[in-house]
Amino acid sequence: MTKNRVTEILGSEKPIIQAPMDWITDAKLVAAVNAAGGFGFLAPNAGQTTNAKSPAEAVSRMKNEIEQTKALTDRPFGLCVLPGDPQTDQFTAPMVDLAIEEGVKAIAYVGDRLIPELFAKIKDNGLILIYRALNNPSVEQFKTAAAMGADMVVVTGFDHGGDLPYKSISTLELIPQVVDAVDIPVLADGGIADRRTVNAVFALGAEGVYCGTVFIASDECPANKTIKNFIVSNNADSLVLFRGAPSPYYRSIPTTLALKLQQMSRQGAANEEIGKLMRGAVRNALVDGDMENGLATLGNGISNIHAIRPVKEIIDDLTHDVA
Ligand SMILES: Cc1cc2nc3c(=O)[nH]c(=O)nc-3n(C[C@H](O)[C@H](O)[C@H](O)COP(=O)(O)O)c2cc1C
Repeated sequence: MTKNRVTEILGSEKPIIQAPMDWITDAKLVAAVNAAGGFGFLAPNAGQTTNAKSPAEAVSRMKNEIEQTKALTDRPFGLCVLPGDPQTDQFTAPMVDLAIEEGVKAIAYVGDRLIPELFAKIKDNGLILIYRALNNPSVEQFKTAAAMGADMVVVTGFDHGGDLPYKSISTLELIPQVVDAVDIPVLADGGIADRRTVNAVFALGAEGVYCGTVFIASDECPANKTIKNFIVSNNADSLVLFRGAPSPYYRSIPTTLALKLQQMSRQGAANEEIGKLMRGAVRNALVDGDMENGLATLGNGISNIHAIRPVKEIIDDLTHDVA
């Protein structure tokens, strides 16, 4: 099965989506994913190593990264937004406008806030809307997003890398529930890192996979080598879990900071108190490889990643039995 509803909607060869990952999914990675037949997403800090000083600077940097992506690939790609409170969110509207102006194919709309005007803007301008819930990946949330016009939903299990949801429901548990509840394609997110995990989620009714961690261990990913080496020489058992903010839970490689936050979490510190100490830490780990003050939020799929490989090899492996 090479073509299905996901490849048809996205215009890719294979139903493999490289998920957005903050600092480390840039033009080069997206272009490599596209060349290998997948579909890549730029994340909010794509191609950057420092924080933008204003929303305008963030948009201008993203415009530059989109142009670099277009220079490296003729194939379509996507952009990620994390809509906040419309009264205070200064990033989402200009990023969506930029995506429209630049002819970006798809928006990964990530978050628990389902804003009808934003859905309408994305859809009315002909972009594909892929919805991923952040803290609350519930069946009801996906049904609402589908009814509001989402083209696909990303079902995030607790195994995944990045901000973790309130409930510790695994990818394998959640996918069939959502597949039964919506008519649009379901993308599986969380712990998918080899052909066996792809086969498993396809058997449950997913029509594509939305993978992050497996692409960190690629030659083309700009993540620091320390993080890549950690992934290939450890398994999920080595990762530490703690409460935090803004999301309720995080999982990280055991840096000095992660171990401290785990201890605070176990001793009952408030999520917000832990969240304050997390600021800037993901950048420190992913960009600088800082094993003291960094946090690298990886998925449990690291257990099935054993080598740093070219993106093409990763995608060929993921699709070995399905494409
Ligand atoms: C290091 C890292 C950074 C991430 N940053 C973002 C982000 O900026 N925006 C977002 O929507 N999701 C982010 N995610 C989540 C991914 O988009 C995706 O949902 C997740 O990686 C899939 O699970 P997996 O890592 O088990 O494949 C991040 C994930 C990781 C591992």
